Amino acid sequence: MSNVVRGLLVACAFGMSAPVIAAEAGAAQPFLQGDIKAGEAKAASCAACHGPKGNSATPAWPKLAGQGAVYVYEQLQQFKEGHRTNAVMAPMAAPLSDQDMQDLAVYFAAQPASPGVASEDAVAIAEPIYRAGIADRGVPACSGCHGPTGAGNPAAAYPRLGGQHAEYAQAQLKAYRAGERKAGAKGLMMSQVAAELTDEEIAALATYISGLQ
Ligand code: HEC
Ligand code: HEC
Repeated sequence: MSNVVRGLLVACAFGMSAPVIAAEAGAAQPFLQGDIKAGEAKAASCAACHGPKGNSATPAWPKLAGQGAVYVYEQLQQFKEGHRTNAVMAPMAAPLSDQDMQDLAVYFAAQPASPGVASEDAVAIAEPIYRAGIADRGVPACSGCHGPTGAGNPAAAYPRLGGQHAEYAQAQLKAYRAGERKAGAKGLMMSQVAAELTDEEIAALATYISGLQ
């Protein structure tokens, strides 16, 4: 594991307590000045793929409902600036202003997320990794950043995973592992988390995540 990941893991374990407490105290969307009502109107064009209120029914298209606002905002910026590439999504982010992104982010964060279902076969492989990592390959516990129920850490912009489509999550883990998705310190961190995972572990983790709630 690189020093970058070690440093961030230490930050995750020790340095994040203040923002988490702030989030619990009601400041769950730090740094954003979005307007939920304005976001609702702007989200009409997103529904074709991400579903009504961000609950996509198509496994390749991510659910946005209940996703952390800062995370959504950062990902929209990444698509717009070309740091995260996807031929379908990039043109959708291109025309958005900074205010549009903030409004959309707080709107989706405020929508209830629909649950998913995990495949039972995956639990034996995925649960130990999710909860404890793989020590001899330097893979950290997923729960350390994404939380025991997959709720993420909105203040730190660690995304919600619970209920997400397995097909989408699997594609993202492979993109991180291949180094295709690694923008910024956080993208790099996640790409190093995924670097040592096998195809079988990725498939199991992706469906396990979908069943978390
Ligand atoms: C034509 C289909 C389509 C439309 C319309 C669309 N998206 Fe997307 N969106 C996608 C796809 C596909 C992805 C996954 C891209 C990838 O695999 O990297 C995505 C990914 C995202 C992500 C990243 C989610 C995550 O968990 O990392 C965000 C945020 C997002 N879209 C927001 C929006 C917003 C806001 C709108 C409306 C302004 C919108 N999208 C419109 C197809 C679409
Ligand atoms: C050190 C903190 C940390 C750990 C540990 C971690 N993640 Fe992540 N994860 C992140 C961050 C931050 C992102 C968003 C990175 C970015 O901007 O692309 C992310 C993104 C993801 C995504 C993409 C989410 C989406 O909506 O596109 C998946 C899937 C994921 N992680 C799964 C896992 C799994 C499985 C594990 C355990 C093997 C794990 N993560 C461990 C911090 C972490």
